[in-house]
Amino acid sequence: MRDFLLIYVNGQRHQIYGEHGFQSLSDFLRIDLGLVGTKVVCAEGDCGSCTVLIGRVRNCEMHYEGIDSCIQYLYQLDCAHVITVEGLKEEGQKIHPVQQAIVDAMGSQCGYCTPGFVMSLVAMLETNETLTRHSVQDGLTGNLCRCTGYEQIIDAALSLNPDVIPRASKRFDVKAMLEDFTEHVSQPVFCEYEEKWNGTGQQVQFFLPTSLKEAVEFKQKHKNVIIVAGGTDISVQMNKERLEPNYVMSLTNLTGLELLEIENRTMTIGAKVTWAKLGEFCQKHFPELVEIISIFASRQIRNAGTLAGNIANASPIADSLPFLHVIEAEIELTGSQGTRWVNINRFYQGYKNKVMTQEELITSIRWNIPDPEDVLKLYKVSKRKDLDISTFTAGILLKLKNGKMQSVRLAYGGVGPIVLRLPKTEEFLQGKPMMSAIFQEAGKLAREEINPISDVRASVDYRSQLAENILMKFFHECCDNQNKKEAA
Ligand SMILES: Cc1cc2nc3c(=O)[nH]c(=O)nc-3n(C[C@H](O)[C@H](O)[C@H](O)COP(=O)(O)OP(=O)(O)OC[C@H]3O[C@@H](n4cnc5c(N)ncnc54)[C@H](O)[C@@H]3O)c2cc1C
Ligand code: FES
Ligand code: FES
Repeated sequence: MRDFLLIYVNGQRHQIYGEHGFQSLSDFLRIDLGLVGTKVVCAEGDCGSCTVLIGRVRNCEMHYEGIDSCIQYLYQLDCAHVITVEGLKEEGQKIHPVQQAIVDAMGSQCGYCTPGFVMSLVAMLETNETLTRHSVQDGLTGNLCRCTGYEQIIDAALSLNPDVIPRASKRFDVKAMLEDFTEHVSQPVFCEYEEKWNGTGQQVQFFLPTSLKEAVEFKQKHKNVIIVAGGTDISVQMNKERLEPNYVMSLTNLTGLELLEIENRTMTIGAKVTWAKLGEFCQKHFPELVEIISIFASRQIRNAGTLAGNIANASPIADSLPFLHVIEAEIELTGSQGTRWVNINRFYQGYKNKVMTQEELITSIRWNIPDPEDVLKLYKVSKRKDLDISTFTAGILLKLKNGKMQSVRLAYGGVGPIVLRLPKTEEFLQGKPMMSAIFQEAGKLAREEINPISDVRASVDYRSQLAENILMKFFHECCDNQNKKEAA
């Protein structure tokens, strides 16, 4: 058992003990190390000012990705290499070519957002992504600038010649780090300290298991332990809602939860698979899901957050849930009693109330791939298109036979304490022809099956109207697709 976290920052080795491991990476960089080039604005993963590169070992190689350092706590970063804006400068260079390009394109005014933009662009270079207007816009969705505006920054990115820019990661002795990580990563980490600042004197512990057995044992011992996967929900709560858990278990070094597999048309996704990896994996079979992921999460969030975290967080407006409900996904739960599978439609019993016991954790999620001619549509309604919390969500899965609806599955989010399936509307549509009047009628039924509230995002009336309208939208989209097919 190890009692320290091992983290490299700009090639420098750090062993972090006790309470020092219980802080955000941005605080560690700025306060402990004095690396104040990393800026903090929102401290909740929205603005990207705190973006840094995180290098982790995958298949014996180091892979770097851009991540929001304000919502990554150090216990999530054991055996990782952090590169900050200070770590970019080559010997003899004044500034990095990406920084120079931003200067030349007048892409910086107050400069507070600039290190974050630089790091996001450097992350794109690290993964050898082709820099087009579209890819740059996507790569920078998670970075906000309040004064310069975006055009100059995009111009700067498009002026770069990636072939002549040395990769930031090549500046460091990655081989030595890999050896160091390989030696340490298989040791579980346990750190504890006494909480002094708030006068409670409580013991605080965090644990990084390396096997499922260790994870389950720790969960059995500490039933109120907070599991941290990507931290994109939980770290925001720690930063903003003053959540102060006594026990934290980070899944960072836990092996065996990275599965991405299709076998006999069943897709299985391990609990540690990030949105970014899931998106790549689903390109062929679930482009609708890939689209939703890219709308709700920036690159930095996609590189950290997981589907399992989205399910466990149990928000009625979580963006993956309508999809999982109509696809009839099953959640694998592992605890001291072994493993069981629960259909997502029976997973939630009320607001944030899950059938998962306190001893269990989610280990994977699986679902069947629909037939190629089935129609799957996912909808997200929010005030702003990108990176906004949903007002209303919907998933519709239609199986057609001879022009009639053989079966229809409908799930709506944001219209009740949990995501709702609409059994009466589904039954009404079953066996009916695809006609506008049928969908109008179905919309009225759907309205009666939901129980929305008015809140800051929308009124009851607005949400009820959406429940009707989304079915008409679905009908017209299906007709458009059919017309296109016939014309082709
Ligand atoms: C700026 C920003 C915008 C966002 N926008 C959206 C949005 O529009 N739509 C949306 O749906 N989400 C959004 N999110 C939320 C978040 O990205 C997702 O919910 C994400 O999928 C959570 O995954 P995670 O791995 O980061 O979870 P974590 O934060 O690590 O954990 C979330 C919860 O799940 C539990 N948990 C995690 N893994 C497991 C497991 N294996 N077993 C049991 N419990 C587990 C944790 O204990 C915690 O309670 C946003 C987040 C940020 C920071
Ligand atoms: S400070 Fe805004 S994303 Fe981290
Ligand atoms: S340059 Fe001021 S916020 Fe972007």
